[in-house]
Amino acid sequence: MSYDFDKVIDRRGTDSMKWNVGEDELPMWVADMDFETAPAVLDAIRRRTEHGIFGYTEVSDDWYDAYISWWRNRHHSVIRREELIFSTGVVPIISSVIRKITDPADHVAILTPVYNIFFNSIVNAGRIPEQVPLHYGPDRTYTLDLDRLEQTLADPKVSMLLFCNPHNPVGKIWDQKTIRWIAEVSQKYGVTVISDEIHGDLTDPGKEYVSWLSLPEELTSNAIVCLAPTKAFNIAGLQTAGVVVRNSKLRYRVWRGLNNDEVAEPNAFAVTAAVAAFREGAEWLDALRSYLYENKQLVKRVLEQDVKELKLTESEATYLLWIDCERVETDSRKLAEFLRSETGLYLSHGSQFGMGGEHFLRLNIACPSVTLKEGLLRLDRGVQKYSEISGLQRR
Ligand SMILES: Cc1ncc(COP(=O)(O)O)c(C=O)c1O
Repeated sequence: MSYDFDKVIDRRGTDSMKWNVGEDELPMWVADMDFETAPAVLDAIRRRTEHGIFGYTEVSDDWYDAYISWWRNRHHSVIRREELIFSTGVVPIISSVIRKITDPADHVAILTPVYNIFFNSIVNAGRIPEQVPLHYGPDRTYTLDLDRLEQTLADPKVSMLLFCNPHNPVGKIWDQKTIRWIAEVSQKYGVTVISDEIHGDLTDPGKEYVSWLSLPEELTSNAIVCLAPTKAFNIAGLQTAGVVVRNSKLRYRVWRGLNNDEVAEPNAFAVTAAVAAFREGAEWLDALRSYLYENKQLVKRVLEQDVKELKLTESEATYLLWIDCERVETDSRKLAEFLRSETGLYLSHGSQFGMGGEHFLRLNIACPSVTLKEGLLRLDRGVQKYSEISGLQRR
């Protein structure tokens, strides 16, 4: 079957957070896609809608089976039914777990630059983000500073590591050796790990992410693993996620916390959509991954040929591209504001992702290529103008 990712859908006037922008603005910031979800998901929701009654909903056996089969078949990971808990979202899980499992004023380690909302979950709970900057190499790839992370996890104040795999915003897939090392070191120092794997299905064609759940059983006893179909199938607004905790004592505490926080029960579409995605969405997802890969190649070409002062970092996963703008402006907030006001192109500026993000822009490429081309034209125009104003020699 073929799928039409070129179809442009007007999202204005739908209360879309991404598209709640000025008429001439082009939003390429928040992580949702301008594509319709998979036909199987749409059909399942339509059928559910036709029923016409939207009362309280339970988590069905099908929901558990769908997650278990998907992670077994696609990610070589075993999930046992009793280890899996429903929740309304990954951020609700993270916020709840931080409140329940750590104490006020504890430090929570994060590898920066990282998904900005991690900071909110930590700070809003009265905990302290402990930033461990990733090492940014001259070849524009990111690696883990092992010594710095070990020192951080050894610090008695640090009781949790919030890990993002694949890593938003730098698009990195962590390899098995690194994950294993983090698991061992976190266990050594009694640190609980949250592994946020929401982008796990959005890898480049031919690449696979390594789930924490693929580690040997004994290395997973301190882990809380967040999974969801929402990024890959563009159903974030349906609020559906799962969390796997192997250790039964830890699991009880997570489950209790999610229930106390009232984020453990599904809305009328949450289960239906997740089941359809994981049971019938594989082919669509693979077509989507190919389309996103082509979009990445387009950005790469345009930056290499036309907007040479911006440098794309290596990306293997997610539809979020991380662009180094140091040659134009070291404070990317300024550049992002300029691009928005001058050209309407709305990107995320890097400083909101923590230390090491200051001279980067994040570009969401999950849109029809015609939209992306328009975005890249605006980017070129904006950078040219910014360079002229700041007296920079172009190219
Ligand atoms: C790493 C990461 N975790 C969580 C979320 C949001 O999860 P949810 O919508 O399930 O709360 C996002 C959204 O962009 C994300 O990038």
